[in-house]
Amino acid sequence: MKFSELYGRDLICTQDWKKNELDLVLDLAFKMKRERFSPKYTNLLNYKTFLMFFYNPSVRTRQSFEVAATELGGHAQFLEPKSMRLKTQKTAGETIEDAAQVMSRYGHGLGIRILEDKVGFYGEGDDLLRDYAKWSSIPVISMAHDKYHPCQGLADVMGWTEWLCKGTEPDWNALKGKKLLVTWGHGALARSWCSVQEAMLIGSQYGMDVTVASPEGFDLDPQVLKWTEENCNNKDTHFETTNHPTKGYEGAHVVYSRHWMSPQAYLEGEFLKQKEIEKALKYPDWICDSKKMALTDNAIFTHPMPIDRGHEVTDEVASGSRSCIYDVAENRLHVQKAIMALTMTGL
Ligand code: CP
Repeated sequence: MKFSELYGRDLICTQDWKKNELDLVLDLAFKMKRERFSPKYTNLLNYKTFLMFFYNPSVRTRQSFEVAATELGGHAQFLEPKSMRLKTQKTAGETIEDAAQVMSRYGHGLGIRILEDKVGFYGEGDDLLRDYAKWSSIPVISMAHDKYHPCQGLADVMGWTEWLCKGTEPDWNALKGKKLLVTWGHGALARSWCSVQEAMLIGSQYGMDVTVASPEGFDLDPQVLKWTEENCNNKDTHFETTNHPTKGYEGAHVVYSRHWMSPQAYLEGEFLKQKEIEKALKYPDWICDSKKMALTDNAIFTHPMPIDRGHEVTDEVASGSRSCIYDVAENRLHVQKAIMALTMTGL
């Protein structure tokens, strides 16, 4: 497969892409990491702009995309939808059909973030991204929406492989047979399902055994659970869910502890944030700590950040010698450079 085959592709979820396509992104990201300012890469986005709009706040995504565009010789433009006069269910304004087609005349790629309180029901953000993708003639990249966070998923796999793979050249099959525990953490932030669902999907595509642990009442999207199970079946690996706070740790190689909202978080178009927080804080046992990590197979701790320390994970684990959080965060830069280069230029 050639790099040029990804030119023009949307990236809304890694499950929409084949593993050999994701491997191409990781190959290029790894090369770009090793030779960060090589002239091979610094002009790839000359005169090209990545248009970004963020319905929700961000640190890593915004900064890493802006830095990525700069390092490739292009530009990333930041826009808040509140300044865009877009049509919503409640207000008159510009349609996605019009906005997407005009933006396609200006930029070479379009990034969108929409989650948590900016959607009225689970899946509304995904519908919006897919609508933009339908009307845009430039690639649409999710910068985290209510269902998925593909850039995070790619950075996760890149980081886990670097940590768990012994060779100098990463082997994108090295995660095969490693156990990923995705565990719910109690917390005072009511978080969308995007990062954990993406980790389950991409982890299973890369041949990991996947265990999802949460208290009763915090089930994730049944479609994502089904896809994860299918990915595991296709790779002859193991998938399971549990409502036990410690069982899943046994034999794990990667522990991903993060809070996520319950399926009851939206009611009649409203995000019930306070209720979700009150509900989550009733489960103080659901925290990743050293005692639980001792049950694993010397697992690494991973998290997409920002971390709710003291709730999702203890300081000791988050800042410990097996924490890969900063490497994964750094990899957001390298994978996004690769994604932009591949989808916006074809190289
Ligand atoms: N992981 C992640 O997407 O971080 P931000 O919310 O800061 O962008």
